[in-house]
Amino acid sequence: MKKVKGLRSRLTQYGDEEFALFLRRGFLKGAGFTDEALERPIVGVLSTASDFNPCHKTAPQVAEAVSRGVRLAGGLPFVFPTVSLHEAFSFPTSMLLRNLMAMDVEEMIAALPLDAVVLIGGCDKTIPAELMGAISADMPAIVVNVGSMLAGKHEGARLGACTDCRRLWAQFRAGTLDGPDLNRAHDQLMPTSGTCMVMGTASTMACLAETLGFMLPGSATAPAVSSDRWRFAEATGTRAVEMAKTGGPRPSELLTKAALRNASVILQATSGSTNALVHLAAIAGRAGITYDLAELDRVGREVPVLLDLKPAGMNFMEDFHAGGGLPALWRRLKDHLDLNAKTVNGETLGDVVKRWPAYVDDKVIRPLNNPLVANEAIAILSGNLAPQGAAIKLASATKRLCTHEGPALVFDSLDDLEKRIDDPNLNVTPDTVMVLRNAGPIGAPGMPEAGALPIPKKLGSKGITDMVRISDARMSGTAFGTVVLHISPEAAAGGPLALVKDGDVIRLDAPARNLNLKVDDAELARRRTAWKPPAKPKRGYTRLYVDRVTQAEKGCDFDFLTGNR
Ligand code: FES
Repeated sequence: MKKVKGLRSRLTQYGDEEFALFLRRGFLKGAGFTDEALERPIVGVLSTASDFNPCHKTAPQVAEAVSRGVRLAGGLPFVFPTVSLHEAFSFPTSMLLRNLMAMDVEEMIAALPLDAVVLIGGCDKTIPAELMGAISADMPAIVVNVGSMLAGKHEGARLGACTDCRRLWAQFRAGTLDGPDLNRAHDQLMPTSGTCMVMGTASTMACLAETLGFMLPGSATAPAVSSDRWRFAEATGTRAVEMAKTGGPRPSELLTKAALRNASVILQATSGSTNALVHLAAIAGRAGITYDLAELDRVGREVPVLLDLKPAGMNFMEDFHAGGGLPALWRRLKDHLDLNAKTVNGETLGDVVKRWPAYVDDKVIRPLNNPLVANEAIAILSGNLAPQGAAIKLASATKRLCTHEGPALVFDSLDDLEKRIDDPNLNVTPDTVMVLRNAGPIGAPGMPEAGALPIPKKLGSKGITDMVRISDARMSGTAFGTVVLHISPEAAAGGPLALVKDGDVIRLDAPARNLNLKVDDAELARRRTAWKPPAKPKRGYTRLYVDRVTQAEKGCDFDFLTGNR
């Protein structure tokens, strides 16, 4: 049976299809379209432009360039809005709203008469939500990101959001940087629009979306304000028309186990954000695939960190782009990647690697025999404190602290943390293991990026810059420190983290992949009888969220959204 395309697809149900089409075309004629235009293949251009999303300030220009490409190729573009999430404008945390955005993306793609869709994303949760929705809808889809900011410059130093935001704030808290100096640097931290220009979550997810095959090769790294950005956007629109005509590739053809393994290789080699673990699990779940965290750990033992970008290294996304871009990194890692994996432009990764220009900047994309970090970037832990797993970014941790035993200091919630962290009487030493709980998907709710607990002022002012911190929360990809994250099950779901008391001894042995609470089972069982789950929100989306959200290793998606339509 011939598939219905263009304006004839997904007609409003009045019980009379020809009338529904008559009405639909009538409204578009009213908007000034000719009959000829309405016969063209339709490409939806999903825009995340929002005044509340400064990272996406250029999204309208990206949409304009995509639309130009669509028209050049003989298609008809329709720009439409979706939920837009910015990290600093989403109370209590953008992660709580990622699933809402994914539902919006899926349902609107499935409801509108489009033959292919271009997804404009960038800031941390947007590309994951778009991929989740597009995979579930299984409509030909191609991602173009808004691109990253250029690096800032201040008093001879290059600055990057938000790694240097955190560094400067820590200096201010410790009293080594005064207010006026902080304020002058503040003006230069985010000098252009675009996403954070270090290897934070936005850059990580853009690179992973390209590696999974959902973006034009080479496009993830182009800065937001570069002409490359507009050219990639135009080419994305052109490609979307071909996809609209041929009906493929569909997300289900791209998102395979091999593609996910490739994503794990690039995540390790770029020292990408730990948030990617949660997003990859959710993205894979939409295709009915379990993202293999044990494989991610194994891959890490084989693949060193080659990309020299902040926070693990010194460079910025613009240097990565000028230094060869992602396909140059793929070429360096060709023996670790499945080069038969497909990309949205019809090539395989291997085809792209073969045709990509030979130039590579070794200072940014290091050769295998001179890596930035010889060992794995991210490790997966388990133990009696994390029966379903936990994650640590070794590349950003203090080596000495990766094997550490110390007494617990427990913060019961984010409120508790905020109230007590700078108390001069806080019972804390540099050996303390700081514990934050009830900050997971259910507990917070929304699993905020609170895992890099601030160093207590009384220690920060004495020059202490890192301590072992563990939690069921996440951490920004731009952050650093010896921080154990994503402990599962979380405390609010009754995980062992809920049973820890001040003074209990916790042992972190990252090389052995262990995180253990040195309290005997009988005592833990006794404590468990006294544990009560936290009260649930009474109504609305937040209630739906805590009732149906999965744990970190499953991606914090809703349990009823796994698999495609
Ligand atoms: Fe938008 Fe960092 S806050 S990418």
